[in-house]
This record gives sequence, structure tokens and C-alpha cells, in this order.
Amino acid sequence: MKYKTEENLLEAFGGESKANRRYLFYAEKAEKEGFPQVARLFRAVAEAETVHARNHLNVLDAIGSTRDNLLAATIGEHQEFTGMYPVFIEVAKEERNDRADRSFALANAVEKVHHGYFEATLKDIKGGKTPADATYYVCQVCGNPAPSAADPGGG
Ligand code: FE2
Ligand code: FE2
Repeated sequence: MKYKTEENLLEAFGGESKANRRYLFYAEKAEKEGFPQVARLFRAVAEAETVHARNHLNVLDAIGSTRDNLLAATIGEHQEFTGMYPVFIEVAKEERNDRADRSFALANAVEKVHHGYFEATLKDIKGGKTPADATYYVCQVCGNPAPSAADPGGG
């Protein structure tokens, strides 16, 4: 496969993924504004964008074994709180964009938590241990996925 096509697949995956999220948010808005049919349309097309995103990623052979995926996720989360967000926060402060600063800072703190979960789970799997059952409750402000108290030690 030509390199340019791999780049294009990755770019198309990014675009489809963003469209998926954007349409789901648009659907929430349409519902609030009293347009349930528009919400259904946005949700249907969002689902279609997910199909496109999956197809592109599959062509790139970018969905590996769970072990591979946990490693990729660990690396990705680490890059976010050590590379991307610290720089974005610094720039937001320089530009006195408080809302962006807060949004980046909230995400940055939680990427460390995501990283910890993925790293610990990868370690379990490498050690032949089945990760303990847990239900996750995701904070709708910061995105922190906390395991339920009833299932301690999970993930
Ligand atoms: Fe699409
Ligand atoms: Fe994350």
C-alpha cells in the first residue's frame, strides 16, 4: 500500500470519528429544541460514520489483539497528559482563554486516570490474570470513569 493512502485512511478515520461525535451532540441539541426526528436523523448518520470509521481503521489493520490495543491505549493516554495537554494548557493561559484552560485541565487530569487503568489492566493480562469485574461510572463533568464501590479492585 502506498504511504499516501495510509495517511489518507488515517485522516478519513479522524474525520469520520469527529463527525460521529459531533452528530451525537447535535442530536442531544435537536432533542432539547423539540426536534425528535432531527435527533433520530443525526443519530442514524452518526452510526453510519462509525461504520466508515471502523472500515478505514480495519483497512489500516489498526485494531489489534486486546493486548496490543491496551498497549496502544496506554501510550496514547500517556502522550495526552505528558505531551499534548500540557502544551495546550500553557498556550491557553498565554492567550487568557480561561474556558479552554479549564476544559484542557479537566481532561488532562483524567487522562492520567485512564492511563493508569489501561496500564494496570495490561499488566493483569500479561500476567495471565483476568481483570476483576467492575462497573464504571463516568463523571459527566470531567470524564473520570470511576469503578463502582461494590466492585473494588476492578480494572
Ligand atoms: Fe462518512
Ligand atoms: Fe483518555
